[in-house]
Amino acid sequence: MGQLELAPLHFISGKLYILDQTLLPREETYIELQTKEDVYDAIKALKVRGAPAIGVAAAYGAYISMRRELMNMPSSGYVQEDLMTFGNVLKEVCDYIKGARPTAVNLAWALDRMQLGFKNSHARSIKDAAKALLEEAIKIHYEDEEACRAMGEYGLSLLGREMGILTHCNAGTLATSKYGTCLAPIYLGHEQGYDFHVYADETRPLLQGARLTTWELERAGIDVTLICDNMANTVMKQGLIDAVLVGCDRMTANGDGANKIGTSALAVLAKEHGIPFYMFVPTSTIDLNTPSGDEIEIEVRDDEEVRSMWYKEPMAPENVKIFNPSFDVTPARYITAIITEKGIVKPPYDVNLKAIINGEPMREYINFDIRGLSHK
Ligand code: MRU
Repeated sequence: MGQLELAPLHFISGKLYILDQTLLPREETYIELQTKEDVYDAIKALKVRGAPAIGVAAAYGAYISMRRELMNMPSSGYVQEDLMTFGNVLKEVCDYIKGARPTAVNLAWALDRMQLGFKNSHARSIKDAAKALLEEAIKIHYEDEEACRAMGEYGLSLLGREMGILTHCNAGTLATSKYGTCLAPIYLGHEQGYDFHVYADETRPLLQGARLTTWELERAGIDVTLICDNMANTVMKQGLIDAVLVGCDRMTANGDGANKIGTSALAVLAKEHGIPFYMFVPTSTIDLNTPSGDEIEIEVRDDEEVRSMWYKEPMAPENVKIFNPSFDVTPARYITAIITEKGIVKPPYDVNLKAIINGEPMREYINFDIRGLSHK
């Protein structure tokens, strides 16, 4: 495939390739996904991961799956009937892929958009229906890239030139179409000569911080230091951190945000140390239909990820009980500001999230603690 720009996926000549992130940082290998089972497995195994990237992969995944399903779909001879069957099979495919992971709302959001894209296209032939799906997937892809760029600009307006920044998991290029969500302002600032010092939590158990964030930042020439998750308090106490920047997998109507397990502990620590805690949330990750974080389904993953994965040999007794929730919810009250592609949202989040999505003016919060909102 030649030398490709770093991205979690590429759609080239009708083929969907993903960078297998389980092999990073040792090996940079792109694999082709051809069937709905390939797409489901790649998302479930975190070969492609990060809320926005999962959404984009699922969108192309629905398209390539439908192309394959079409080969097995008998033609009725009546276009309308065939199109109805196409719609029904598309729904089955989307429902199946949605089952791969429950927490990141972008997965369901993108697949719902694909079905809507087909419906709204008013396609009059199967060929047009397939074309409409491809167009929708490309739209989702490029909208995500633009959203990341915009979040980068808004985010950068909150940061000073030599700040120490703590981040968790990976919300960078590898998690999105390009730039990342919370790493986008770091890339943008770096281009403009800012001198950030990034601290990356290793992010147990799947080590997205150690394996992915450090790898992509080092590759871009950005100063990054890896720490274990339990060192966050120490780096904050030593005055090395001026802001905490994290991504989000699902933000509910009241501003609670689910993100990688361990995020909420950082938010509590940041508050204790008086450090601003910024959550980067494209509107595709905002779920206004869910009232609060209490209603978010938290993915529980395999015991082996904690017991033995990434170790040379298992690091726990063979039969010890293991609890492995993959995400936690940061309550809205710990989030200093929410950075979306449409602007920076300040509390009250229950009012302002709705306003920003609907393009209405946001309300100013009278007692909002402005400390940390501008370091320029
Ligand atoms: O389990 P993962 O690696 O998919 O978890 C990813 C995260 O928690 C990210 O922070 C989140 O998806 C935002 S990515 C821009």
